[in-house]
Amino acid sequence: MRRLRRRDGRAQRGVAGPGQQVKAHQADLVVAVGGGSAIDVAKATAVLAANGGTAYDYFGVDRVPRPGLPVIAMPTTAGTGAEATPNAIFTNTRTQVKEGIVSPYMMPAVAIVDPELTLTAPPGVTAATGMDALTHAVESFTSVKAAPTTDLFAAEAIRRIGRSIRTAVFRGGDLAARTDMALGSLYAGIAICNAGTGAVHAMAYPLGGQFRVPHGIANASLLPHVLPWNLQGSVEKFAQVARLLGEPVDGLSALAAAERAVAAIQRLCADLGIPSRLSAFGVREEHIPAMAAAAHATRRLMDNNPRNLTVEEVEAIYRSAL
Ligand SMILES: [Fe+2]
Repeated sequence: MRRLRRRDGRAQRGVAGPGQQVKAHQADLVVAVGGGSAIDVAKATAVLAANGGTAYDYFGVDRVPRPGLPVIAMPTTAGTGAEATPNAIFTNTRTQVKEGIVSPYMMPAVAIVDPELTLTAPPGVTAATGMDALTHAVESFTSVKAAPTTDLFAAEAIRRIGRSIRTAVFRGGDLAARTDMALGSLYAGIAICNAGTGAVHAMAYPLGGQFRVPHGIANASLLPHVLPWNLQGSVEKFAQVARLLGEPVDGLSALAAAERAVAAIQRLCADLGIPSRLSAFGVREEHIPAMAAAAHATRRLMDNNPRNLTVEEVEAIYRSAL
């Protein structure tokens, strides 16, 4: 127990969880300034302040009974799109698995997306978070839940991120590139609200939960390995991805164009110095069956994937990435 002090100066006994602290201070709202994790913590804190309990009580979809305090989200990275999604992702330290609180009540009331706040993000963070945003855009664009409205946002996100991510990483002070990344991240966040993400995210969660690989790096490392499988389930969409990334695809068949998209993203990961082998994170052959089982069981994401993947195929993808 820690003694909390209320805004009126009176002391109050209570467990000093973030939700209780916000409640004890009689806050009217929560302002989140930071990257995706900071915004996710703020979103959960605002909900816990109104609903009580701990984050463990609300893991899953639509398990939050009441709205929380309003949240104003100001992202300082261009990555998760957390300022525009109803999700907050945490590591369940009891199971070492990444889990989400997913509820309309987790959506921030206001998002202030100012690219100037991202100008000082270092190259490594810019690359990792930017690749997370690109993964959101590509996975939502090729999701089985994609719709014309989500495609508008996902396609524009792919176009902006594809043309500007290298400049944002290697010349971080370029405001035009940072603007593209900030808007790309926001648009991709809007797209995943309805179209969701897929196998890359499902397979990234065990890397984050078990091996503490940052979310963007986990996605970026897996993306080049998952896409060659996924393009078979959505050739036409991946051909469009190639065009959005600026690849010269005129005159190519849809399949050849789709392969250009995969090659372009593989080249991008290499240019940005993203680790391409999971062994770099300590993953070994003996870890793969459990990781594949966990990823395959994440149906919230796997069911969106453009290609149906068996647990054996998920294992094969992990193995190809070792
Ligand atoms: Fe993500």
